[in-house]
Amino acid sequence: MGSCRVYPVARERLGLSLPNLELTIGGGKLHSYRVYRFSDLLGLDLTPFFLYPSHDMKYGEQQTFEITRVDHQGRGCGLVNDRPACANFVVPGEIIEGKFVGRKKGVKKFEAERWLKTSPQRIKPACQQAGQCGGCAWQHIKYEYQLELKRELINQALQAGKLNREIDAVIPCLQQFYYRNRMDYCVGDRGEVGLKKPGRWNQYVDLKECRLMSPEAEQILNIFKSWLNDNQVEPWNVFKQTGYARYCVIREGKNTGERLITIVTAEGELPAESDLLSQLTPLATTIYHGVNPSVTDLSLAPQLELLQGKPWLTEKIAGCLYQIPPNSFFQTNTLMAEQLLKTIRRHVDTAKTQRLLDLYCGVGFFAIGLAAAVPEVYGVELDETAIIAARANAQLNALNNVQFDSAAAESLIWKDFRPDTVIVDPPRSGLHPQVIATLLDQQPPNLIYVSCKYESFIRDWQQLSAAYELTDLQALDLFPHSPHVELVALAKSRCN
Ligand SMILES: C[S@@+](CC[C@H](N)C(=O)[O-])C[C@H]1O[C@@H](n2cnc3c(N)ncnc32)[C@H](O)[C@@H]1O
Repeated sequence: MGSCRVYPVARERLGLSLPNLELTIGGGKLHSYRVYRFSDLLGLDLTPFFLYPSHDMKYGEQQTFEITRVDHQGRGCGLVNDRPACANFVVPGEIIEGKFVGRKKGVKKFEAERWLKTSPQRIKPACQQAGQCGGCAWQHIKYEYQLELKRELINQALQAGKLNREIDAVIPCLQQFYYRNRMDYCVGDRGEVGLKKPGRWNQYVDLKECRLMSPEAEQILNIFKSWLNDNQVEPWNVFKQTGYARYCVIREGKNTGERLITIVTAEGELPAESDLLSQLTPLATTIYHGVNPSVTDLSLAPQLELLQGKPWLTEKIAGCLYQIPPNSFFQTNTLMAEQLLKTIRRHVDTAKTQRLLDLYCGVGFFAIGLAAAVPEVYGVELDETAIIAARANAQLNALNNVQFDSAAAESLIWKDFRPDTVIVDPPRSGLHPQVIATLLDQQPPNLIYVSCKYESFIRDWQQLSAAYELTDLQALDLFPHSPHVELVALAKSRCN
């Protein structure tokens, strides 16, 4: 059959990824057609044998390779037959024997099965399901080395983006377990309750424990699981897009002791609702039933019914109180959110800020936390419910120098409020091109860019650097046991 090669030439997102494949034989294009990603659907690679390139391998084939680095998804990377390969739950320096489980974007994926060499940085994870669960990619790695890996990842990305800057160290998280104040536990199609396997949208780990949130969250999961079983509640099925129970979302006020639970389902009444409530009530200050009727696999429920308690969760950070509605964003690591605020406060003070614009302000975490240090503060956010909460939060903290408006950051007209410092804390995708254009046009003297995805920050910085000079860059670990990290950049306009 000669050399037989398959090229992915396009991808679509229709809930499922449907690549177009081109089959070429001996260099000539024969046919272009579309297939489902069977490996994603079934966890199996059912690609017909004749579609494999001659150098390629079959599902289940064993290979030995050395892990030389980690990537931004936390996977260990190396080379197999001179081509990129990766595996989860490994450490640089290890030599593993792994089973081929598929490929994505030219990278062969392996499941590590045997270790021919282990790293001295490897430790026994605290959680019995670490090594299967996508919640913690790095629990098997010593914490100090996790920080070092994050530092290297950021510095490599900064260098690749030609930012001509390095960070010396990642500021460690003050608490490495039970640090999260929000967890979105999902229901699998076989009734599993927990988190997804790493890199999988359709495979679940039925959690027996979870060290990310709190022992009480584990109790809630057990109650939720028993309720599903006792009442034969149908789990949501992501393949068929049928079923009922979808997510159990838990939010905690770490400094207030409050807890908000949202049971997210498809449409329909909660079976045995009073039983469920009586068991959950001792563990929660607020309980919602959230309905997500769409096929999209999201834990955010557009329809919310308050079943018990007050409508929001209250958290206290650095002396300020925040009311947080169930669907609105809040920093997920309370302890480190305070450190983040302190870092930003130092920048705001150094700049002698008079008029602060907090773009993408959520429920006003930065705006309110900084209001004591700045005469005038203005917060803007797309989520209207978050803005209602932000205004309530200004009142709750007796502040009269803070204003909030609901608007898309990209459509905000700045002419009435001329800030001398702007904070931007965009979603993971980074800044909208129009926000970059406005920043370049208006050039407020000080810009503080907070980013939970350094790749997006670096991409945006390629443009912002035309008008801004980066004067300070720090990384804070808000997400132990994951490859994620928070960046805070301070920049000065070159015009001032
Ligand atoms: C990373 S969060 C930051 C929130 C806030 N700074 C905090 O620390 O709590 C990003 C926020 O941007 C909001 N957002 C998303 N797209 C937006 C847009 N186009 N314009 C304004 N806000 C947006 C989200 O609703 C979310 O609250």
